[in-house]
Amino acid sequence: MKVLYSYNMSTPQNRHTILITGSSSGIGRASAQLFAQKGWNVVATMRSPDKETELNRLEHVLCTRLDVTDASSIAAAIHDGITAFGRIDAVLNNAGYGLTGPFEATTREEIRRQFDTNVFGTLDVIRAILPHFRQNGGGTILNVTSMGGRIALPLYSVYHGTKWAVEGFSESLQHELRPFNIHVKMIEPGAIATAFYDRSMTVAKQSGLTAYDTMVNTTLKRMNASGRSGSAPADVARVIYGAAMDKSWKQRYPAAGNARAILWTRKLLPDILFSALLRLNLMRPRQ
Ligand SMILES: NC(=O)c1ccc[n+]([C@@H]2O[C@H](COP(=O)([O-])OP(=O)(O)OC[C@H]3O[C@@H](n4cnc5c(N)ncnc54)[C@H](OP(=O)(O)O)[C@@H]3O)[C@@H](O)[C@H]2O)c1
Repeated sequence: MKVLYSYNMSTPQNRHTILITGSSSGIGRASAQLFAQKGWNVVATMRSPDKETELNRLEHVLCTRLDVTDASSIAAAIHDGITAFGRIDAVLNNAGYGLTGPFEATTREEIRRQFDTNVFGTLDVIRAILPHFRQNGGGTILNVTSMGGRIALPLYSVYHGTKWAVEGFSESLQHELRPFNIHVKMIEPGAIATAFYDRSMTVAKQSGLTAYDTMVNTTLKRMNASGRSGSAPADVARVIYGAAMDKSWKQRYPAAGNARAILWTRKLLPDILFSALLRLNLMRPRQ
């Protein structure tokens, strides 16, 4: 028998329901907590729900397995959510991680895994929920991209490739889903203090390739240290909640960690000046 890891419901049918990917930590976890607090049913999905000890104690929260690289787990989690709560009104595509380091040191397998998770995982969840949303007469898709879906930092090239891909995809998708009252929104966090900068990060290395060592030891270390002292994931969760409640067709929501200021600067400056400013701040050796 399939195990639904736990849910506790009184009158689930008259509440909105959100399905969240990557609820085990960081932004996904903070969002699951906030939506539950705000009176939503939450399908808090994660790769290892058997390890969860807190979310599964909350009322109206169903913890169930979903690995975005496993299509059958996506279908099963959506099915579990609809069975438990009657319908799903919003999906938060949050699961993801960062592949960093010099591109030259990156293997094809690492690149493939990065795109499988951050891009194909998101697309597979959306494809799986669309029939349900159309049947319901609408729904909201919230894609956690990044301010790095509109700017590009050094030594994050493949990660940026995934986030820029989801941004372009989301902007196009909105055109075709608007007639079905389905909203596609992008949440663009700045630097947020989560496991993203530690256990979730893969740093590409190739033995014998030392040409980038100084850059990795200064720029990447500096950027990741500033990420670790970034904003709290709860700040992003509040922006996500606002976006879920926003019935306008606005698509982009910069979220915390200076994202708004940095994206404005990006808009105002010519490409060449913005890039020079980034290099000056991130790549210049410090005394
Ligand atoms: N932190 C930042 O500064 C920042 C900035 C901009 C955008 N973002 C984006 O925010 C999102 C959440 O990251 P975070 O900062 O909250 O980091 P996090 O705490 O490391 O959370 C990442 C989540 O994604 C899950 N995940 C990874 N691969 C998965 C897969 N194949 N299937 C299902 N879940 C998977 C992880 O699950 P496990 O526990 O199983 O590993 C974890 O729950 C990511 O898309 C990230 O790119 C983060």
